[in-house]
Amino acid sequence: MDREILSLIDEELKKYVNKNNKLYSAANHLLLSGGKRLRPYLCVLVYKLKKDNLSEVLPAAVSVELIHNYTLIHDDIMDNDDLRRGKPTVHKVYGNAMAILAGDLLYAKAFEAVANIKDNRKAHEVLKILADACVYVCEGQAMDMEFEEKDSVSLEEYLDMIRKKTGALIEAAAKIGAVMGDFNDEEMKAIEKYAENIGLTFQIQDDVLDLIADEEKLGKPVGSDIREGKKTIIIIHALSTLEEDKKNRLKSLLGKKDITKEEIGEAIEILRPSIEYAKNLMENKTIEAIDALKIFDKDRRKPLEDLAKFIISRCY
Ligand code: IPE
Ligand code: IPE
Ligand code: MG
Ligand code: MG
Ligand code: MG
Repeated sequence: MDREILSLIDEELKKYVNKNNKLYSAANHLLLSGGKRLRPYLCVLVYKLKKDNLSEVLPAAVSVELIHNYTLIHDDIMDNDDLRRGKPTVHKVYGNAMAILAGDLLYAKAFEAVANIKDNRKAHEVLKILADACVYVCEGQAMDMEFEEKDSVSLEEYLDMIRKKTGALIEAAAKIGAVMGDFNDEEMKAIEKYAENIGLTFQIQDDVLDLIADEEKLGKPVGSDIREGKKTIIIIHALSTLEEDKKNRLKSLLGKKDITKEEIGEAIEILRPSIEYAKNLMENKTIEAIDALKIFDKDRRKPLEDLAKFIISRCY
């Protein structure tokens, strides 16, 4: 990832959460503790397919990151997670009530950033894209929780759920870059196809990393999805392919709130073939994503090709 672009994004972000009180500290606890900045970065890279005036796109790009950070704070409350970006989660440090508010603050600040887009027509387009994405994230997160209670979830249901909870904001980031860059219909379609594929891949890799990552590098707890009984693609595949005794053992571990490290290790061993299945699916989607970029200039599209490859090879 291009350091210069990333530091411009961070500079722009800092303008929004800038007061010295407990609420703002709670919001900054997450916002300023790293994070890949993948969504604003994607937004800028899409814009750069056609245009180079970065100051035009930055407020739009950070609006997506602000929304993302709001969803993370609330997600960690929902998923009962203690660690995020290598630090204790906002609700662990500030309590649930202040964490909910810190999330709400970041949500509101995203719209302040949209209001800083100079061209009113573009600001209006961005607003529509963001509002839709926020609705999808809520719907996807609700499905994710409901699936915990369901015995069987199909691959189609899973893909629909992750496209909403995670894909939607990634797709929004890319589309916003395209709006700011004055893309024509054909170019917008190509970007949508690219973003849909990397968005799905991003969450599938997140599900894989929840099992096999190094916790220190990941900055999030490993095995949390098993403890919470999440129906990830790996679990869905395992439940439909494993022989009876392994399937029953896996079922007894899923959703076990007091699961031990050893038991998580045991589940991971049972899940090995299903992890391979997920990797295969991601490779195909990455090929499709890269293929969609073909209509753009070879040199200009290279960073987006690299980003698609980063998403499947990342370990954090
Ligand atoms: C984590 O997103 C939440 C998901 C949608 C899977 P990221 O992996 O982009 O988190 P940060 O921003 O880098 O911390
Ligand atoms: C995506 O799912 C969360 C959001 C849409 C915010 P996860 O719950 O798997 O994300 P992580 O693993 O906690 O980052
Ligand atoms: Mg979650
Ligand atoms: Mg989570
Ligand atoms: Mg996860």
